[in-house]
Amino acid sequence: MSYILVVDDEADIRDICEMLLKRSFPLDVATASSGHHALQVMKEKGKPVLIISDLRMPDGDGQFLHQSLVERQWKIPFVICSSDPKSVLEARMPGLQGYIEKPRIFRPLIDTVDAIIGHQDTPPNFVPVRISLLMRWGSSSCNLYMKLSEGKYIKVINAGEAFMSEDATRFSSKGLHHLYVTYEDAEGYLKNIEQNMTSLLKSQDTPLDLTVLTLESLESIERLAASLGWTPEVLSAAKRGVDLAVKAVSTEPSILKLLKNKLKNSSSSYCSHVGMMSLLTCGFCYQLGWTSESTQMKLGLASLMHDLTIDEEVYKDPIMWNQAASDPADKTPEVVKYRNHPGDAANLLLTMKGLPPDVDQIILQHHETKDGQGFPRGLTSSRISPMASVFIITEDLLSYIEGSKEIDSKVLQFLKDKESRYNSGNFKKVFEALKASVENARH
Ligand SMILES: [Fe+2]
Ligand SMILES: [Fe+2]
Repeated sequence: MSYILVVDDEADIRDICEMLLKRSFPLDVATASSGHHALQVMKEKGKPVLIISDLRMPDGDGQFLHQSLVERQWKIPFVICSSDPKSVLEARMPGLQGYIEKPRIFRPLIDTVDAIIGHQDTPPNFVPVRISLLMRWGSSSCNLYMKLSEGKYIKVINAGEAFMSEDATRFSSKGLHHLYVTYEDAEGYLKNIEQNMTSLLKSQDTPLDLTVLTLESLESIERLAASLGWTPEVLSAAKRGVDLAVKAVSTEPSILKLLKNKLKNSSSSYCSHVGMMSLLTCGFCYQLGWTSESTQMKLGLASLMHDLTIDEEVYKDPIMWNQAASDPADKTPEVVKYRNHPGDAANLLLTMKGLPPDVDQIILQHHETKDGQGFPRGLTSSRISPMASVFIITEDLLSYIEGSKEIDSKVLQFLKDKESRYNSGNFKKVFEALKASVENARH
């Protein structure tokens, strides 16, 4: 079957382009991670109808690939995807068929390909999405389907349900590389990723303007990390996630001011709570296999901001405050204020222009519990998002081990004690994964 070849060293870009193209064009899509790899693919599959290539790649860049085609006198339309100026590229690679400027490639990609090969008349009912993409990006807000045969699909994961590494393994062991989403859902899914990528890129260019990780929180996290079975890779991913979250906040002057004010006393409970929470949620998320930087950044952001409107006092006895807030009959002004803090913080955050999706939801849900006894909305576990579940379990763990010297045994005790608290909805999947990694670390 005729196919389009996508060449990029970034797995995210390859997987997203594949999904975008499959949604709009009735053609196969093959991917390669470098110029040399692309030549290999063409040797096996024959000439593609179109090549969309990144410029900068190790092991044979875009220009090398273009040149190789010219030398072989293969006339294949060649589209380059790059942040370099178009004129420079056209001078270096004469005969280019198209140019897509990074990073906002989604719409231009479709338009460019449309102009070259034309679009399809009937859109597909289902669009394939790589299992590796689902894994890295954490979870999906759409139903996921498995393809049984031509035109036959069954639902395998419900919308809002966490997609974990054991799910990925389960499907991969059947030899599958893709699951499917409906045509309509694919659009929302891709839009969500694009928004995440843009806010990630925006924050990457911002100078660091805030320190949240005190030496103290780094030291305690290292001890805890060992008990949780974190590898050094998880720890450095966690630090990077927090870094990105801090940078994201730094792009919003009004929020930055608020947060700086809260963090100015590095020995405050807020500081250590937020420092620990951000590192732990980012690392935990990475350890679950949700390795996209954007997902970690979102948990980091939620950690930095979730308690922005509460008083330092609260940290002296959070259990008491949580109990009071869970009782709707308690109308004491301080309790009402505390009960509303998730909503207040989420609203504040919504003023952030480049806010990645889902962060407000994590914050809004961070005091909900499985049985609807939490606040402010009294949700039940099936309505609590995967990322919020990570957040809630992390915060619970943190308060559970607070002040303890025997972290190893405390963590084990936590896993035993809380089994029934986290045995449904996304809680269950996340909790099981935590348990498995702690057990692994012990063997
Ligand atoms: Fe908190
Ligand atoms: Fe809170």
